[in-house]
Amino acid sequence: MSNDALNAAWSSPSNIAIIKYWGKHGDQLPDNPSLSITLTQARTMTKVVARKIEKGQEPSLQISFEDKDNPAFAQRIQSYLNRISEFLPFLREYDLQVESKNTFPHSAGIASSASAMSALALCLQEIQSKLNNEVLDMQKVSILSRLGSGSACRSIYGPVALWGGSNQMPGSADEYAIPLHDIHPVFETLCDTILIVDDEKKAVSSSEGHALMKHHPFGSARIQQANAHLEALLPAMKNGDMTTFGEIAELEALALHALMMTSSPSYVLMKAGTLSIIEHVRAFRAETKTPVYFTLDAGPNVHLLYPEESKLKVKEFIYSTLMSFCVNGMMIEDVAGSGPVKEDGERSERG
Ligand code: PMV
Repeated sequence: MSNDALNAAWSSPSNIAIIKYWGKHGDQLPDNPSLSITLTQARTMTKVVARKIEKGQEPSLQISFEDKDNPAFAQRIQSYLNRISEFLPFLREYDLQVESKNTFPHSAGIASSASAMSALALCLQEIQSKLNNEVLDMQKVSILSRLGSGSACRSIYGPVALWGGSNQMPGSADEYAIPLHDIHPVFETLCDTILIVDDEKKAVSSSEGHALMKHHPFGSARIQQANAHLEALLPAMKNGDMTTFGEIAELEALALHALMMTSSPSYVLMKAGTLSIIEHVRAFRAETKTPVYFTLDAGPNVHLLYPEESKLKVKEFIYSTLMSFCVNGMMIEDVAGSGPVKEDGERSERG
């Protein structure tokens, strides 16, 4: 490696939103505040090598995803790099080699943009910080991640992150996420089992989805709802109130899908298996009083959320009742986590 080569390697997790970001404006700014649990297992590992180029040359990008060329991913990253070079001037003077891999299976129908874009933003900001002799600034990383994929800005902090300016939370902003410190320990080890009901690629990209909110008949009601949910969720998370937390998680998931069903064009992204799981979860909770709740992303797969102490009971329930709705019995067992990790094993600084 020449003296002018710099490298950085990070792994960064995905996150699951409890209050959903749906609708954006301006430079990828959210229409409403969102709050998420940072995951542990579902993550992307990214390595970047930057080599200085001769004056007058155009920088090149070499990229591999899961050890293969991926032209669609390369194109997305190239336009991202063009967009952020005003913040990272080194990008105009260095060739980049990027390697990116997910820890979760390709075909799991799991959105990887939050983990992929946050891992890349960490590597790029680290290289710029080295060149500037500065320490890595996580706020800058969160801003860069947001420009790659809105929800990625929340993956920088764990176990809980809040994105979007709200008068409920001092220090919150539309430009970057902040870690939520005042939370009950039950949420620090919250379990999330992702039941893979369908492993097809997403039927609607999130950019198309956000655009549907521009002229949505329920647009302003949705913004009010998200803000009201945040107001109720913050004290619930502080006090360990699982019931309020779970009720809000479920309402948010159903609101997200209701918005998609009632937009133009309209999308029904739940499958029959999604609805069956929802019915079983509600019946099991009513019968056994086990605090297990569901949430959904913009797709058919179901995230089951429950405290660590209910793990055994919920596992039994999953194996006896829910697994038959999963493609090839596929599921990912995840848990709240503390955020990105430098590849050498060193933990990132937590907010
Ligand atoms: O970050 P994007 O543009 O992929 O949007 C994510 C949207 C949801 O996953 C549906 C909700 C969220 O807040 O993560």
